[in-house]
Amino acid sequence: MKKLRHMMNPLDFSVEELERLFDLAGNIERDMEGYSHKCDGRILATCFYEPSTRTRLSFETAMLRLGGKCMGFADANSSSAAKGESVADTIRVISCFADICAMRHPKEGAPMVAASKSTIPVINAGDGGHQHPTQTLTDLLTIRSLYGKLGGFTIGLCGDLKFGRTVHSLIEALSRYEGIRFIFISPNELKVPDYITEMLRQKGIDYEEVVRLEEVMSQLDFLYMTRVQKERFFNEEDYIRLKDFYILNKEKMALAKESMYILHPLPRVNEISVEIDDDPRAAYFRQVQYGMYVRMALILTLLGIE
Ligand code: CP
Repeated sequence: MKKLRHMMNPLDFSVEELERLFDLAGNIERDMEGYSHKCDGRILATCFYEPSTRTRLSFETAMLRLGGKCMGFADANSSSAAKGESVADTIRVISCFADICAMRHPKEGAPMVAASKSTIPVINAGDGGHQHPTQTLTDLLTIRSLYGKLGGFTIGLCGDLKFGRTVHSLIEALSRYEGIRFIFISPNELKVPDYITEMLRQKGIDYEEVVRLEEVMSQLDFLYMTRVQKERFFNEEDYIRLKDFYILNKEKMALAKESMYILHPLPRVNEISVEIDDDPRAAYFRQVQYGMYVRMALILTLLGIE
């Protein structure tokens, strides 16, 4: 019997396994029809205890495009969590119905608890301010597709680096590749957590922390913008003070390389002006498309079909 495998953290897969996953995503992109019946008869459960547009719909589209079916809930209040059911009990129930489950939860570690009780693969679709591994797979595939390789570039991560789980997952994942320089651009209150800078120091990876985006713009090959995470603030006043700290506009883009790409996990609020959307360097909607291919590849891999 094949060992049950989950995806809690991008580091759960070795660099070699990720290469295979990205190659598979590339094959799917080139030949969608060839993969359209790979999951015939399989069911994906999406258990989302927190709001989502991209991640949930991207998972569901991925399964539908593989020929499978989907069920689940998009709101904890429409599930028995509202009556007090634990995540551990819910996943035992879901395991009776579905072949694979994608779970988003506001509490850090909740998908891990689910995985420990599950008899089907569980994918962490975002847990609190902790990790968002499939967004990271999306980001890595996007960078690899646009730049041709994962390594040898300078990436600026800008905005809410404290609460932004996509940022934490991405830095950890990129720290395994050669020749990447990180520039962290944030207000002092939203700096990247100490455990991340400590990890980079221990690995001897080059990083810099600045407040002003304009200061470093010309050095960047990728600019990864993030929204200030309103839902993780304890104090509304702090959110209002910090929410528009960075607004990427044409003036700032004039300082960037012609070859620089702008990424954003989305949703965007104000941090990227819509006037940038038609700039060829704006890659955030292409990034969404890569997210579907990589989730298709992940479903196939965790189900042991490819
Ligand atoms: N990037 C992302 O996680 O978007 P959603 O919150 O819409 O799923």
